[in-house]
Formats: sequence, structure tokens, C-alpha cells
Amino acid sequence: MIISKPYQLDHEKLLKNNSGNRSVYIETYGCQMNVADSEVVMSILADSGFRQIEQMEQADLILVNTCSIRENAEQRIRGRLGEFKRVKNANPQLIVGVIGCMAERLKEKLLEQEKLVDIVVGPDAYRDLPRLISQAETGQTAINVLLSREETYAEIAPVRYASNGISAFVSIMRGCDNMCSYCIVPFTRGRERSRDPETILVEVRTLIEQGFKEVTLLGQNVDKYSWKKDEPEQVNFAQLLAKVAELAPELRVRFSTSYPQDMTDQVLETMAKYPNICKHIHFPAQSGSTRVLELMRRGYTREWYMSRVEAIKRFMPDCAISTDVITGFSSETEAEHQETLSLIEWAEFDLAFMFAYSERPNTYAHRNLPDDVPEAVKSRRLTEIIELQNKISEKVKQKDIGQTFEVLIEGTSKKSNEQWHGRTSQNKTVVFTAPNAKKGDYVKVKIRGATQATLLGELV
Ligand code: SAH
Ligand code: SF4
Ligand code: F3S
Repeated sequence: MIISKPYQLDHEKLLKNNSGNRSVYIETYGCQMNVADSEVVMSILADSGFRQIEQMEQADLILVNTCSIRENAEQRIRGRLGEFKRVKNANPQLIVGVIGCMAERLKEKLLEQEKLVDIVVGPDAYRDLPRLISQAETGQTAINVLLSREETYAEIAPVRYASNGISAFVSIMRGCDNMCSYCIVPFTRGRERSRDPETILVEVRTLIEQGFKEVTLLGQNVDKYSWKKDEPEQVNFAQLLAKVAELAPELRVRFSTSYPQDMTDQVLETMAKYPNICKHIHFPAQSGSTRVLELMRRGYTREWYMSRVEAIKRFMPDCAISTDVITGFSSETEAEHQETLSLIEWAEFDLAFMFAYSERPNTYAHRNLPDDVPEAVKSRRLTEIIELQNKISEKVKQKDIGQTFEVLIEGTSKKSNEQWHGRTSQNKTVVFTAPNAKKGDYVKVKIRGATQATLLGELV
């Protein structure tokens, strides 16, 4: 497939830029979106003369890309700021910048509360970083937390420092308009907007030329991807997926996150049609109770969620499904908690991320729904959910044993240089031996056993 090339991405910048005369150390917390953003930030900084280093003690600038999703995420970051303080005491010239969701949520308050912070920059203001840094270098604090309706950093080629050289994140949209009642993201990331598909295709094509074998298309609700500007026809998510998949049959395509209310059959059909679109959907349920889902303002019922899971299995019997669950949301009863457990049991998720509800300031839930499930009850319910999911994960793993999967090799295994690790299309990690293989190869692996987190296989 031939695509036009309106933007020429700079190949050199895909390599780690280490020629700048000032040094930056960056730490990233939160979701994949933040990881992708940090790569954009590094590209902007490389252009203004920064080189990236791995020792914060030697840095001229420390940046921390932050997350506000739960109270404990913020606490962890505040703990890290304490650590940066120690470095700053030893080097008073050091500039410390807080960027990302916590910067957007707390704004000036961060400068007041955390005296070591010089710069505060929200997720839509990264192009302004060079100016803000210059301002901080004159001894003033600097802040830009303006949210944008247009910014997608569309033509900026991310510096792929966070990647293993095989797999890369590609942001396809920003923000979120869903306003789930518990969620801080619409406040920290602003309005939903989609990125020009041509720039996405150019970025992916560049990755392919660089030897990357897998891309993960990122958005808070990818099913709402929609591009209309200057196009005779609108491009929706299913169409974008097809366009990316058609760039190269040997490129694996993943995406995250799907939203149960918005995921269409057209997306499932597209996934089924292209072998290189990975058979895995991250499909957050949040709760198994329709009443709680309504309070969460998720816009779907338990039955709807189940019908979408059935649709996934109908289109792709081999598709893995993972989920997110929040337990102990406002007024959740014991019976409703049981409904979440029964949904988990029914769906047999391959993987689940499970959280106790954490009230976030200024959300709809904070203003209107009391955080009235006692902490002890939340944590007991969370334990029950985790234990059930552990049992299910065990069962799901047993089903994989004896089967053969195509695995993309991502690197050597953590435990031994003689073993490879890679993932199946279903996003499961496999460890195996293959003397003549190399990173980036596709190999067929038969699963022989499993440990807690990984499958163990042998080459066929
Ligand atoms: N856009 C994605 C979610 C991004 S946040 C989606 O809608 O699925 C990742 C997960 O964090 C959510 O799915 C939810 O399970 C969890 N989460 C979000 N806000 C939370 C809160 N206030 N307390 C606990 N968990 C929360
Ligand atoms: Fe938050 Fe809901 Fe948007 Fe996900 S879809 S980011 S949970 S508001
Ligand atoms: Fe956290 Fe912001 Fe992502 S709040 S989960 S880093 S969008």
C-alpha cells in the first residue's frame, strides 16, 4: 500500500540523541500514554540541546512524568520528589520539573507544596518546555498547564528511548470525553481529539524501516478515534487499524484501550481479517453490577458487557481478553461485589488489573457520591477479587499448555542469556530456548509448562 508522505520524520532522532551539551534525567509513572509522551518530550528536548542520561546525580534537569489516577500513585511520586531533593541539595543549579497528569491536576499548588519544583508542565504544553526551562534557569519558577483541543504532537518523531527496539507505542488520540464519574483523566488530559491518520502511518512506516516489529496504538478510548478534517470520508478506528495493518504483514499491531460501550463489530471484523492484528483486547469492565456501572457513568450494563465479550469470542475464538476492575466504589454492596466476582468467573479473563476505589478530587463521584465503603472492606473485597483472578489465570494457563503459538522474540530472558522471551499474539509472555534465533524473529513455540507470570515453551 502506498501512502503519501506529508511529514518527513527525522530518522536520526529515532536513535538516542546523546550530543546535547545539557543533560536530562527523566522518570515516567502511570500508563502507556505517559511512556509515549516521555518519548515526545525527549524529542523536543533533544532539539533544544539536551542529551539523556541515566544517573540523576549528574543531571542539569530532572523531569518526572506523573500520574494522578489513584491517591497512592501520587504518594509514590511525592516520595520520589523527596529523593530528588537530596540530589538538588548537592547541586543547587539542578532544575526539577514535574510534568504530566499530576502537574495538570495540581498546577501552581505543586510549586507551593513542593519547594524543590522549578517547572510544572501539563500534558498538552510540552512544546513549551524549552522556554519554561530557560525561564527556570534564570531562577524563576515556570508553569504551563494549558489544555488544548488540537494538540496531538502529530509531526514530532518520538525518541524511542523507552523501547526494546522491537515494540513501540504510537499515540493515536489524546484526552477523554467519557467522564466516568470516578476518573481524573478527563481533567488531567482534557478533551478527546484524534491524530491525523497520515502522520500515524508515516510514524509507523518509519518504525518498520527502523526494524520495529510491533506497534501499540494508544488512546484512552480508541473506539472513539475519528478523523474528518480534509478527508472526503471519515476515518474511524476500524479503518485506521486496517490501514496500519496493511503497511506490513510482518508488523504486529496492538491497541489499547477499548471501551465496552463503543467497541464496534467493525473493529472485531477487522481484527479477525488481519492475521497481524494481535488477538488481544484490553476490555475494562470496572464492575459486574449494573447499578454500580450506572453510578460510575460507564454507559453500559452487565448484560451489555457480557454480550460484547461474546461478540469478541464469536469473531475470534482465540482472542485473549484482559480487564480492569475497581472494587469498593461508592455504596457498592456485598451483593454487588458478588456480581463482580461472578462476572470475572464467567468471563475467564486472561489477565486483570484490580484496584480499590480511590476518590479523586473534583470528579463527579467526589462531588456527588460518598466514598462510603470502609477501607477494610475495600481491601478485603480486593483480596477476594485478586484470589479469584489468580485461580482463573492458572486455569487459563493450563489451556495454553500443549498448544503452539507464534512468538515474536523481544530479548533474552531475565534469568538467563541463553533463553529468549517474547509474546504470543494473545499478549502472553513465553520463555524458551532457540540457539539460532535472534531478537525480532518470529518463531513457533510449543508450550510445555508455566510459572507464575510466564509460559515455558520449546521451539518446534
Ligand atoms: N481509559 C481506560 C482507563 C484508564 S485508567 C478505560 O476507560 O478503561 C486505568 C484504570 O484505572 C481504569 O480502567 C480503572 O480501572 C482504574 N481507575 C481509574 N480511576 C480510578 C480510581 N479513582 N480509583 C481506582 N481505580 C481507578
Ligand atoms: Fe477515565 Fe473513563 Fe476516560 Fe477511561 S474512559 S480514561 S476510565 S473517563
Ligand atoms: Fe495516570 Fe494520567 Fe495515565 S492519570 S493512568 S498517567 S492518563
